Amino acid sequence: SNIGVIFDLDGVIVDTAKYHFLAWKKLADSLGFEFTETHNELLKGVSRVRSLEILLEVGNKTITEAQKQAFLVSKNEDYLEFITKMTADEILPGVNKLLNYLDEAGIKYVLGSASKNAPLILKQVGLYNRFAAIVDGNSVTKAKPDPEVFLLGAEKMHIKPEHCVVFEDAIAGIEAAKNAGMFAIGVGDKKTLHKADYNVNNLTEISERFFETLMTLN
Ligand code: BG6
Ligand code: MG
Repeated sequence: SNIGVIFDLDGVIVDTAKYHFLAWKKLADSLGFEFTETHNELLKGVSRVRSLEILLEVGNKTITEAQKQAFLVSKNEDYLEFITKMTADEILPGVNKLLNYLDEAGIKYVLGSASKNAPLILKQVGLYNRFAAIVDGNSVTKAKPDPEVFLLGAEKMHIKPEHCVVFEDAIAGIEAAKNAGMFAIGVGDKKTLHKADYNVNNLTEISERFFETLMTLN
């Protein structure tokens, strides 16, 4: 096929945002400030280090570099407690059906995530071997909205960026896709993701016709 697909992980394939939230909230509690789900929206799609910086801005806290490193480790330990219990039941609606369709149609797809835990999460839910490549927080240096993660994904598929379709649930992710010159599909709240080229509430809304049409355009 002449098109390739790139999937974000957290919030697109699985709903791990709730586990990130619980782990960050625990840290905020220990530092003595309130951290809400609304605050958590700001952390979506950005790297672990950047997430900590935003959290500390929310709590108006300044800490030493050593403390920062320690918090990054303890937050991830708390997060791992949740994700090591994950099963295939936590794959979001429409994901399996869409991957099956892409396989049948011979359309390549890769993962494009900011998470360093991406391989572990994919193994937990049994999707690790399905992607042509996994581009994640271990393979890139520049965080979304930088296009690096998606450009590398396109390269892995040997597909031109302008022929790539990206599924994203984060504002920073939609921006990254647009910065890469790709077609960006926002998964989630349409108002929040208004910079996307197309919006859906979840992947059940993507029909086979949708890809057939895209392929004829290219
Ligand atoms: C992104 C999440 O996918 O990965 C962010 O949306 C998270 O919330 C980032 O901070 C980094 O994840 P991890 O697993 O490496 O801490
Ligand atoms: Mg996401």
